Amino acid sequence: MKPIESMPAPDPRNVAHWRADFPILGERVHGRPLVYLDNGATTQKPASVIYAENAFYRHGNANVHRGVHLLSLRATDAYEAARAKIARFIHARRPEEIVFVRGTTEAINLVAQSYARPRLAPGDEILISAMEHHSNIVPWQLVCEQTGAVLKVVPIDDTGALDVVAYEGLLSERTRLVAMTHLANALGSINPVEHIIASAHAKSVPVLLDGAQAISHLPVDVLTLDCDFYAFSGHKVYGPTGIGVLYAKAALLEAMPPWQGGGDMIRSVTFEKTEYNAIPWKFEAGTPNIAGAIALGAALDYVDAIGMEVIAAHEAGVLAYASGALQAIPGLRLIGTAADKASILSFVLDGVHAHDVGTILDRHGVAVRAGHHCAMPVMQRFGVPATVRASLGLYNTREDIDALLEGLAQVGEVFGR
Ligand code: ALA
Repeated sequence: MKPIESMPAPDPRNVAHWRADFPILGERVHGRPLVYLDNGATTQKPASVIYAENAFYRHGNANVHRGVHLLSLRATDAYEAARAKIARFIHARRPEEIVFVRGTTEAINLVAQSYARPRLAPGDEILISAMEHHSNIVPWQLVCEQTGAVLKVVPIDDTGALDVVAYEGLLSERTRLVAMTHLANALGSINPVEHIIASAHAKSVPVLLDGAQAISHLPVDVLTLDCDFYAFSGHKVYGPTGIGVLYAKAALLEAMPPWQGGGDMIRSVTFEKTEYNAIPWKFEAGTPNIAGAIALGAALDYVDAIGMEVIAAHEAGVLAYASGALQAIPGLRLIGTAADKASILSFVLDGVHAHDVGTILDRHGVAVRAGHHCAMPVMQRFGVPATVRASLGLYNTREDIDALLEGLAQVGEVFGR
């Protein structure tokens, strides 16, 4: 029987080599080469990730933690090895601090329901910011409705940066949790997370970071950051959809009740009493996304082989080039110009709806997202119904930005701008 093999590490030399690892980049769209600039929504997958998922189903498929037969033991080993790999990637102390979930949204809902809900009393406060994705707003609104707690929102300035002075002022004796994005999906702003965490901890307030965007653009070290919770999705870091991670400090996970009941999250069950499993399995009821977890491990191997610092530096170069070029277009307004930002170019064009821009760019082979980006309060803050968002990944180049600029020139011709 074949083992679950993995592919050789990527050639880390430069972006031309990285691009060759992504089969989908060879696609044509409307007869043109695909220019993929929608990485904020989801990233493409390297061949090693596709291979890992395929190899699991070809050679290793069985359920985990349940069988004495070889395939089940092999699947369990591969699943738990992926957990250990993720722990190393984000510098968690122990693999037990990594809970597999469907994605960032499920991770935040888990914290809201299992950590926050039992601890909240009427008048207690949850502190978020005005740049959050709906997945870091709505779970807190739900738990506030359930408990009588109050949602407080830290404002952002006209560049899309957090108002740090306002943050300090809003951290109160009633604050029970701070939940902030690490890197804002609609703006690209990078939050001063070290400062946010230090100030919150000075008042014994735990901090959750939404790392959905940051995980593929910035090195993440939860140990140094000392955040209490960190959430991210596999598909935003070159892994599959339907798999994500909640990191939480072990002591917090130990103190939290399970949020879903079922198989695998128990030690013993009688009708009188159920004893729960140890962490992290206490939070993984039901058959998990085994292939997804293993393929996420392959995705992290992939970015690790290139190096997060190398990826961040490459993307910063493309971002600077794109920002300069876009700002030179008459009637184009960049939304999100914070001094500390990464990977996101959100903009509006005078007199043209974002959806029309997105449609014309698509005919040009350029994939961007147009809309509110699941961040309606950000749109309200900047007084726009929607933006066009080009979001970068490790395989994007200046040539991709040139294609975007050509597409925008065509928008200008169609709309007589
Ligand atoms: N959260 C994803 C985005 O920003 C879907 O596009």
